[in-house]
Amino acid sequence: MYLGIETSCDDTAIAIINGKDVIINERIVQNHQQYGGVFPAQAASQHIINLPVLFNQIDKDYIEKLSHIAVTIGPGLKQCLLSGISFAQGLSIRYQLPIQAVHHIEAHILSVELSENIKPPYIALIISGGHTLIVDVYKYGKYKILGSSIDDALGECFDKCGRHVDLSYPAGPIMEKLALEGNEYKFILPKPMYDSNCYNMSFSGLKTHVLHNKVLYKEYIRDFCASFHRAISDILIKKLKNIVKDKLVICGGVAANRIIYHNLSQYFDVYTTIPALCTDNAAMIAYTGSCMKRNIDISVKPIWSIEDL
Ligand code: KG4
Ligand code: ZN
Repeated sequence: MYLGIETSCDDTAIAIINGKDVIINERIVQNHQQYGGVFPAQAASQHIINLPVLFNQIDKDYIEKLSHIAVTIGPGLKQCLLSGISFAQGLSIRYQLPIQAVHHIEAHILSVELSENIKPPYIALIISGGHTLIVDVYKYGKYKILGSSIDDALGECFDKCGRHVDLSYPAGPIMEKLALEGNEYKFILPKPMYDSNCYNMSFSGLKTHVLHNKVLYKEYIRDFCASFHRAISDILIKKLKNIVKDKLVICGGVAANRIIYHNLSQYFDVYTTIPALCTDNAAMIAYTGSCMKRNIDISVKPIWSIEDL
């Protein structure tokens, strides 16, 4: 059994898995709304408080059966990653367990294997609060980045646009609910880089557009949210159309969005996982640690490309 620890951003998460069985998958979501974004020092000190709280809830029988610890060492916020690594190191000494270092983005990709029977090669779309990447997963552990956002991540765009129209953080799931009751063709939102000859994306122009039109969009909030989902889906479909030949894996927090899933499914053979495994979680960390037994130092790597694995 593997214990997973995830603290790369603002969520503190601990999980236990046995093969592909998720036995425990717990998470404490921090609230950084008052700062308008994640405040790293505050998030790191919350991890230090939250990790023992989560760990102490685990039944002793499971702890006795652990064989390994898997911990996220990057990419992410340095202080936050350090909180998780130190906690893992403490447990490793106390329970005499080896530690596996895990790459957060690789874990998002492999999270889909916990729900679906899928094996490389495939194209993975990682859409989260910190990352927007199109990755060619050409074999296990081998990755090539084909495109990425050149500015804001897609989840960040959801959260910032939502904030402009007075929705609380994280705005993604709230906008999804509102969109279900709106008309997706009411507004034509900008689609930055839609026609560019590359697979990169840009979302900051959309955010500025929403800021300039926030009075109108607040009035027609459901139609705005529906039109926003239409624009995002169109951008993703356009970028993926020339790349995806067969299977498309979508993962990361925004992949929990059923409207985006539905829209992409009209064009591709889409594989994803349940919402609790799309957003940051430790089950994906434990699973990745158990599959990818690499000999990597347990030291923090805040900037770490998936191509360098
Ligand atoms: O993967 P994640 O938990 O954390 C990062 O690694 O960043 O992703 C968090 C992001 C937030 O921006 C949140 O608004 C977005 O995922 N998100 C959603 C949905 N659920 C979470 N965005 C759109 N629709 C959702 N249902
Ligand atoms: Zn993540």
